Amino acid sequence: MKKKFLLMASISLLAAFVLSACATNDEPTPNGNSNSMEEKDNDSNMNQDMEGHMDHDEEPNLTDSTGENELKIPAALGNESDNESEVAYTVRAQKGETEIFDGAKTKTYGYNGDFLGPVLRFSKGDKVKINTINELDEETTFHWHGLEVPGEADGGPHETLEPGEEKQIEFEVTQEASTLWFHPHPDGKTAEQVYNGLAGLVYIEDDNSKSLNLPNKYGENDIPLIFQDRTFDDEKQLNYDAAMNEDGTIGETSLVNGTLNPKLTVNQEKVRFRLLNGSNARNYTFKLNTGDSFVQVATDGGFLNEPKKLNEITLTPSERAEIVIDFSQLDTEDELALINEEDGSILLPFGISDQGGEDTELPEKMNDFSITEDEMDLPVTKEVELFGMMDKVTINGKKFDPDRIDFTQEQGETEVWEIYNKPDDMGGMIHPFHIHGAQFKVLSRDGEKPSENEQGWKDTISVEPEETVKVAVQFKEKGVYMFHCHNLEHEDNGMMGQVKVK
Ligand code: C2O
Ligand code: CU
Repeated sequence: MKKKFLLMASISLLAAFVLSACATNDEPTPNGNSNSMEEKDNDSNMNQDMEGHMDHDEEPNLTDSTGENELKIPAALGNESDNESEVAYTVRAQKGETEIFDGAKTKTYGYNGDFLGPVLRFSKGDKVKINTINELDEETTFHWHGLEVPGEADGGPHETLEPGEEKQIEFEVTQEASTLWFHPHPDGKTAEQVYNGLAGLVYIEDDNSKSLNLPNKYGENDIPLIFQDRTFDDEKQLNYDAAMNEDGTIGETSLVNGTLNPKLTVNQEKVRFRLLNGSNARNYTFKLNTGDSFVQVATDGGFLNEPKKLNEITLTPSERAEIVIDFSQLDTEDELALINEEDGSILLPFGISDQGGEDTELPEKMNDFSITEDEMDLPVTKEVELFGMMDKVTINGKKFDPDRIDFTQEQGETEVWEIYNKPDDMGGMIHPFHIHGAQFKVLSRDGEKPSENEQGWKDTISVEPEETVKVAVQFKEKGVYMFHCHNLEHEDNGMMGQVKVK
C-alpha cells in the first residue's frame, strides 16, 4: 500500500520532495538528500498542507508488543429480557479511569465500564430494545456500525443525547451473521470520543453461523481483536488535542482490546479471530511473523462463500474480517505472532499451551453471496468524489451540512454508487468509505472484479488514490443515513454526506 502511495506521489511535480521526506524511513533517495527539513520551510499554505500529508506518510511505527500482559477479552453484555426472541440491553457512555500502564491511571471513556465496551450479541430475528444513556459531560450519539436499522435508530449526528439524557431505540435484526461494532457519532466530535475509548462490538448469529462448525467458544477459540493506536503523554494520558492530526490521528502505542503489550495463549487448535480496525486513521495489514497463511471466513457483514487462504489482509479504519489461524500443528516452543506488515511491528504474540483443543474441520461452503447479472448491468446512479486532505476534505466538492440531503434513494431499490478517490498534487491518500444502514456488494475496482476476499457483504471499502470502486447498495429501512470517510478526522472535518431513504 505504501508503495502504491509512493508511486502515486512520484508522478506529481513534488516527487523529489516527497521521496526525500519518505527516505527518513529507510529508502534511498534519488537526490541523495535525506534531510527534507530545510526544504519544508519553503513557503505558503501549500507547505502547511504538505506537512500534514507528510506527517501522515511518515506515520510513526507502532511499538512492538512485549507480550507481558494477557489480552483482555471484552465481557458479553447480559440480556435483560427473559422473553426468548427479545433482547434488551442498557448501554451507557461513561467516563472512567483505566490502568493501561502499570501504576498509572489514564482517564478514558467506555461503554458500561471504564474503557471500550462489552460485546452485544444478537440473533437474526431478534426484536431488540436498547436503552442508551449518556453519562458523559458532553453530547454523544450511539451509532451501530453495519447494522441495517431504521434511520432514527442509527445514531448518526442528528440523534444526539445531551449529558444525562437517555433514549430507547428499537429494531429487529434482519441481517445475517456478522461482526459489527458501535461507537459515537456526534458532529465534529466523533474522532475524539472514539480516541478516548468509546467503541464496542456487536455479534450477530443465525442458523447458518451456528451450523457451520466454526470455532465459536467466546474468549477461548473465538476471539475479538480490536486494534487501535494511541499516543500517551508524559502523564500517561490520552491528550487528543495534542495528538490530533487533521489528516488522521496516528499514535505509536498499539493497543489490542485496550491492552498494552498483549499476549494471547491459545490451545493447539484452530482459533477464529474477529479483527476490527478500530483506529482513527491507521491502516493495518495483518500477517503472521512466520509468513504462514491463515484463512479468511468473513468480511464486514457476513461469511464469504468459501474460506479464503491468505498470507496477509489489509483493513482500513472500521473494516472487519474474521480469520482462522491453525495452531493445531504447533507446540509450546513455537513463536507465532500477528504483525502489522505496514511497519513490521509485533501486534499480538501468541503463547501456545500444551493442550489440544477442538478438532474443527473448516466448512467448504459458508454462504450463498452472489452478484446477479442484473446488478452488474445497473447504471451508475450515485457518484461520490472523495477529494482533499487535512481540513480541506470534501465529498463532491462539499462539506457536511446537517441541513442538506445529498442523495435520495428508494427503500428496497438497489442502486450503483460509484466512488472515486480524486488524487491531489501530493498523490492523495486512501479513504475508507462507509455507508450507514446498509451492507453493500463490491461490483468492481477500476473495472476489475474485486479480489475473492471482497466478494462478500461490506459496509466500508478502502479506496486508493485515483481508484474508482462501484458498489451495489440497497437500504432495507427508511431514514436519513450518513455516508463518509471513516478516517475519523476526515469525517469530523466534513467528509460526509447524507442519503435520505424513502
Ligand atoms: Cu463507523 Cu459513520 O461510522
Ligand atoms: Cu478520508
